[in-house]
Amino acid sequence: MDSGGPFIIIDRVSKTYPGGQAALRDVSLTVSRGETVVVIGPSGSGKSTLLRSICGLEEVDSGSITIEGQTVTENPRLRDLMRPELGMVFQSFNLFPHLTVMKNLTLAPIRVRGLAREAAEAAAAGLLAKVGLADKAEAHPSQLSGGQQQRVAIARALAMNPKVMLFDEPTSALDPEMIGEVLAVMKDLSNEGATMVVVTHEIGFAKEAGDTLIFMDEGEIVERGPARDFFNHPSTDRAIQFLDKIIS
Ligand SMILES: Nc1ncnc2c1ncn2[C@@H]1O[C@H](COP(=O)(O)OP(=O)(O)OP(=O)(O)O)[C@@H](O)[C@H]1O
Ligand SMILES: [Mg+2]
Repeated sequence: MDSGGPFIIIDRVSKTYPGGQAALRDVSLTVSRGETVVVIGPSGSGKSTLLRSICGLEEVDSGSITIEGQTVTENPRLRDLMRPELGMVFQSFNLFPHLTVMKNLTLAPIRVRGLAREAAEAAAAGLLAKVGLADKAEAHPSQLSGGQQQRVAIARALAMNPKVMLFDEPTSALDPEMIGEVLAVMKDLSNEGATMVVVTHEIGFAKEAGDTLIFMDEGEIVERGPARDFFNHPSTDRAIQFLDKIIS
């Protein structure tokens, strides 16, 4: 669902890691409030760098990133202030292994948002129910399946009540039978109007939930448009070659 209004404006961003090739070359992208943008492209094309730059985990060399009217690339303080508003979910779930699921979900809301424990726990219980894990609050991450851990990771990101959710290949480390349960949670979020940027090669998800698809190669956005159009009629050789490889 794209309910209008630019929310993230990425304007001509470039980034080269020290000693490496350009990871992002003059990338421009606007994400509207309520929009789900799906990012696909070959390994090394800059997808993770793009997400990490949006959430301030990487500094860009040139260009600007503006989130809700704040140009975060200009001002490290603004970037730090914005970080809690950006929920990030990684391929490896990065849960705190020594903490229960409940503590994983309440730690940042209590410490960063200043929520009272009771309020944080009530919100966390609601989120666990939403991702289908109401009965796992007292479990430790090692007692959960990969799919369950990833759903906890999504709930943990949501517990901060972020303005944007950024997903970096959230299902690529999962066994096939667990991918669907994680994608279902993400589809719900998208349908509820969350603003999301999702790096994934799950074509079904991209077609059903993606408002816009961008295809990246060698640090550039090579194609952009409705996801269905991209899969039915890729317009560049680079995209055709890539799709040949992933749909085999
Ligand atoms: N921390 C880093 N230091 C140096 N080079 C890096 C670093 N992270 C990424 N790169 C390089 O930047 C380019 C883009 O990497 P990036 O991780 O953004 O690609 P990706 O599209 O996410 O790939 P994948 O599909 O494998 O996750 C690659 O050439 C990569 O080698
Ligand atoms: Mg990556």
